[in-house]
Amino acid sequence: MLAKRSEDKNIVDTVFTMVKKASDAKLKYGEDKVVDVTIGALCDEDGKFTIFDSVSEVYKNLNKMDIAPYAESFIGNNDYLREIKSWVLGDHEEKFNVGAIATPGGSGSVSSTLKNILDAGETLLIPNIGWGPYKIMAKEHDLKIETYELFNEKDEFNIESFREKSSKIMKLQGKVLVIINDPCHNPTGYSMSKSEWESVVKVMNDLSEDGNFILLNDVAYIDYSVKGYEESRKYMESFTNLSPKNLVVFAFSCSKTLTKYGLRVGGSVFISNEKKNIDDYMRANEFTCRGVWSNVPKGGMKLFSTIQSNKTLRDKLTEERDGYVKLLEKRSKIFLEEAKEVGLEVYPYKEGFFITLKIENEKIKESIEKLNHENIYPIQVAHGIRIAICGSPSKKLEGLAKKIKKVIA
Ligand SMILES: Cc1ncc(COP(=O)(O)O)c(C=O)c1O
Repeated sequence: MLAKRSEDKNIVDTVFTMVKKASDAKLKYGEDKVVDVTIGALCDEDGKFTIFDSVSEVYKNLNKMDIAPYAESFIGNNDYLREIKSWVLGDHEEKFNVGAIATPGGSGSVSSTLKNILDAGETLLIPNIGWGPYKIMAKEHDLKIETYELFNEKDEFNIESFREKSSKIMKLQGKVLVIINDPCHNPTGYSMSKSEWESVVKVMNDLSEDGNFILLNDVAYIDYSVKGYEESRKYMESFTNLSPKNLVVFAFSCSKTLTKYGLRVGGSVFISNEKKNIDDYMRANEFTCRGVWSNVPKGGMKLFSTIQSNKTLRDKLTEERDGYVKLLEKRSKIFLEEAKEVGLEVYPYKEGFFITLKIENEKIKESIEKLNHENIYPIQVAHGIRIAICGSPSKKLEGLAKKIKKVIA
């Protein structure tokens, strides 16, 4: 029955399995006895799912006609497109040719970029430690995967590996599409420095002599950077030096920015120093919008544009979200200080939802089994074990690093 290319499609959901194990354990032993660090969404200090009041208030008061009809066009509502360009790029917006489309979450942005940049059989470059669905999306579009090492031995962005893999692909297919998930990388919490970004731009420019170099910058967590709004976007300045053969697509998500994961609103904001790149990319993506999802929920777009275009509402949201950024900082300190004390190795965390333990691939499964035995439920990722500090109250993180070190040693 299935198309040949769909015959081997099968999602092995390790996250769901572990979440189920954790909730079974809570029923059996009681909440207090279980450390559940599986939850990838923001939760408060009582362990309750966070829903920003500053967002819910606005949604409740939207006009019915702002929710029920179709969006203004396949690419999204005009005011939404204006606001995502401005929010994602900040004061850099004026420096580039800019385009935007609304997508179903950040996922829609990533997926439509793969679809419109690469042909079936071509290769997508992603980090060796990263968000699992990149691989699923690549398969969905019949793409091959190549990975660059995210970190070097000094725990910095591995620019040598990035250059080596990119140039190999450029030689092979005359075009490169690479994903960088930054700032607040999922699952390590790494954020690149401005000079690391400048080296990336240098690689993009050097290689663009042989073809187009397209960067997909997944900024799903950008609004959780401890640096604040302007500083977190400072690195975009380096894109002013990009060759006209380059395109940067920012995959933006309202899931995290508004804590509205289920509304399915996000977008691609794309920039280039060559206008034709923007026109071409827009034309192809408008077709994809119509051809794949038709249009994005109007109410979700209206929610974002209403808040962002009103300073009072925007400030209220920023203040509420900042409270959680501070909370993440506090939780990360608890875990990291202890980890350092006991010599538990972690990847270089700077900010964001997750911390990841450095574990050799062969030892991951065994370590997780040992942790489960002690009622600790983390998530397995490539080259490590993810601790979701976003979903775990501070009190559950106290003593955790010590315990983990003891269990897996
Ligand atoms: C790294 C990363 N990118 C993108 C997304 C997209 O999320 P959504 O499709 O809900 O906007 C997520 C969500 O977990 C993510 O972790």
